[in-house]
Amino acid sequence: MRTQIVAGNWKMNKTLSETEVLLSELSAKIPDTHAQVIVAPTFINLAAAQNHLQSSTIHVAAQNMHFAENGAYTGEISADMLLDIGLDMVILGHSERRSLFGEDDALLAKKVDTAIGKGMTAIFCFGEELDERKSGNHFSVVENQLKQALFHLEEKAWGQLVLAYEPVWAIGTGETASPDQAQEMHAFIRKTIAEAYNSSVANNVSILYGGSVKPGNAAEIFSKPDVDGGLIGGASLKADDFIAIVKAI
Ligand code: 13P
Repeated sequence: MRTQIVAGNWKMNKTLSETEVLLSELSAKIPDTHAQVIVAPTFINLAAAQNHLQSSTIHVAAQNMHFAENGAYTGEISADMLLDIGLDMVILGHSERRSLFGEDDALLAKKVDTAIGKGMTAIFCFGEELDERKSGNHFSVVENQLKQALFHLEEKAWGQLVLAYEPVWAIGTGETASPDQAQEMHAFIRKTIAEAYNSSVANNVSILYGGSVKPGNAAEIFSKPDVDGGLIGGASLKADDFIAIVKAI
């Protein structure tokens, strides 16, 4: 059985005091669930979040990290810094990191290597842009992203990977991939991994969908056989919405 996951990517939102309020609400309202629930506050609030959630079942992830061990990388955060405050999960390759901060799959391959080497779990994001879908290239775009960032990994590293398919045209736009579009792509991703590795690797990796998941559409998206949960942006910033999405899995 693959792990079902609902993860909230808070992006550049919530001050420390707002973080504490949201975490208190989430801790109070979190239902009993078979799913792993993750929140990813901004860097500066990670230690406080980790502290706050010590006795909670909610896990904390970072939204990014650098690939280097340490050194002259002004403004960056290392894997050891995350591990030292008790975090072992990191989101890598989010489309905003790719489009706004110039991250490409070659760089992301290095970040993934560091995360895996440090014993962390990488939540690896990828997905096509609108023009790529319109021109019918979405499958080859996704296949290339996986190949370039992940397919150099040894089979055993896949136990430390979670995939998050986030079509860029559905992020923050209110436009969601239909449940059938999500299922079609997730099945394609699994087939691509099975061809590069084997069916056991493909069947064991959790593949999350991200892009305008809301309380009203989560259950139908999550009901698809190859969708193992969601990476939630906007709706993870409101306790009631995020909890409703957790309940939908
Ligand atoms: P929205 O849920 O706001 O569309 O964001 C999705 C996302 O980017 C999660 O990482």
